Amino acid sequence: MLHRRRGDGTTVLAVVALLFALCGQNEAASNPRYIAMGNLQTVIHGETLFSTDIGEDRQTTGFLWCQVREGTIHYKPTWARFVRIRDSKQFIADIGQDNKAYLHFGKSKAEAAGKYRCEVKVPDSSIITGNMFAYSHPVVKNNESWPLKRSEVEPSTAVGPAVYASLESTARIPCPIIGYPEPQIVWFKDNIPLEIEGRVSFDKVNGVLSIEQITEEDGGRYRCKGTNQYPTVIDGPESFFEVNLDQELKIGDGYGWMLPLAIILIILILLFIIIFTCQRCAKYKADQYNVAERERALHNDQVPLKNSV
Ligand SMILES: *[C@@H]1O[C@H](CO)[C@@H](O)[C@H](O)[C@H]1NC(C)=O
Repeated sequence: MLHRRRGDGTTVLAVVALLFALCGQNEAASNPRYIAMGNLQTVIHGETLFSTDIGEDRQTTGFLWCQVREGTIHYKPTWARFVRIRDSKQFIADIGQDNKAYLHFGKSKAEAAGKYRCEVKVPDSSIITGNMFAYSHPVVKNNESWPLKRSEVEPSTAVGPAVYASLESTARIPCPIIGYPEPQIVWFKDNIPLEIEGRVSFDKVNGVLSIEQITEEDGGRYRCKGTNQYPTVIDGPESFFEVNLDQELKIGDGYGWMLPLAIILIILILLFIIIFTCQRCAKYKADQYNVAERERALHNDQVPLKNSV
């Protein structure tokens, strides 16, 4: 069932009957006269590339609304809420003058994206429910201890700090890309698709790539690409979205400053050895001189003896 009316010329405000899963409890299950209507979807556009937890200058997102109808009658809900399916988080709806139950997203982040269930209670205590969608393109979820930069060459690419791993250890490269529908993640190493097998595994839940038994050859530039697709207007064509995250894997312990320090230490040790050896040298020469002197003295003493033979 699909009702539609044209808005102000450019926007199509589609009013869609929700796929109605009539709630099991109460009479509603046996009473299919109610229909839940709603705007079915909204698109969260608070962030472009990565989470702006740090800065609050996000764009404002619209809202979801739903309403219970019986024929042409709109019921004023006695109570309404929205439940985010992913984490069962509940949001009390705002009931408008128009008898619609609203969920306002305001300056929401991509984290608010997902499937929502609207639950509306009507005068006879039936609870009518319907599913709605808050879409978001893929966004890299960052935080203060893991700052990201925007790539200067590619608009849809974020650049993370280098990851360090020592030989033989396990490298862990994060890729916390969120969005709804859940983004598909693929990996590249130095622009070549990375096989997720053997020593290399990807934990989708935590968004971490693990590479065991690190060798020198594992070093390089790793990219994870997150993609998803959804219609930006109801019943419109699907649009494709992507975000890339580039990180350099460096083989070493991350103590780059230790190399110059080691060089200075080695120079100091060498200097010390040179000075010490020179002192020894001088002393040895002195000893040699003494020996020569003594030898000469001895030799002088021996001359008469030799001559006398
Ligand atoms: C910040 O994000 C990184 C990458 O996902 C993660 O490894 C780290 O645990 C996060 N830190 C905090 C404090 O949440």
